[in-house]
Amino acid sequence: MFITFEGIEGCGKTTQISLLAAELSRQGLACFTTREPGGTAIGEAIRGIFLHCANDDMLPVTELLLVTAARAQHVERVIKPRLRSGTIVLCDRYIDATVAYQGYAAGLGRDMVMSSHELFVGTLMPDLTLLLDCPVAIGLARSRERNRASGKDVDEGRFEERDYAFHEQVRAGYLDQARLEPARFEIIPAEGTPGDIHRHVAGSVLRRLQGDAHAV
Ligand SMILES: Nc1ncnc2c1ncn2[C@@H]1O[C@H](COP(=O)(O)OP(=O)(O)OP(=O)(O)O)[C@@H](O)[C@H]1O
Ligand SMILES: [Mg+2]
Repeated sequence: MFITFEGIEGCGKTTQISLLAAELSRQGLACFTTREPGGTAIGEAIRGIFLHCANDDMLPVTELLLVTAARAQHVERVIKPRLRSGTIVLCDRYIDATVAYQGYAAGLGRDMVMSSHELFVGTLMPDLTLLLDCPVAIGLARSRERNRASGKDVDEGRFEERDYAFHEQVRAGYLDQARLEPARFEIIPAEGTPGDIHRHVAGSVLRRLQGDAHAV
């Protein structure tokens, strides 16, 4: 099973993925956590270019090509082999992030993003996508507080620096995607405590896993 976590900056993806991974491991299920852009040495190098604040002149089409290249490497070298061996793969962002950021907010359009995916990555889509949805003000406040508390210069903050309207478009793009593919998406309200959100996430995932077991 291939599960992706999506949502605006600071909605809690990384927090929830680690809580879910711990819960699945407790239940004796093999799972593997990874992220995009990244997940391979080449992908992590691309991530450095993609997110670095110094690269604020990057064209949306350059962004699309970079993340698509990283994704092609990630899918073939990491995700597919793990899925084949029966491991549950948890991925922090995937194609829907590219649709929301480059397709909707940066204006390339959903079709260009999906066509690039089909051309260069292939047909692999998530079995389940958990969209952590919260108002932009809450997500941005959380990520600012996280960056402040970590006390270090955050180079990977190129998108966090975008204006409010950009993030509103990202959020709307995600919600649109969820409306287009209701069977794949689960929208998880992400304003509550990490524990409450985790219970919702774990409930959705375990229900799907049980559904899969019955289907076999
Ligand atoms: N439900 C929550 N309530 C309050 N704070 C939270 C909640 N979930 C996560 N946080 C905190 O908010 C910050 C952002 O969370 P996290 O890093 O998990 O978000 P993210 O979606 O992965 O962000 P990014 O898009 O920047 O990677 C962290 O400091 C985290 O501890
Ligand atoms: Mg994160």
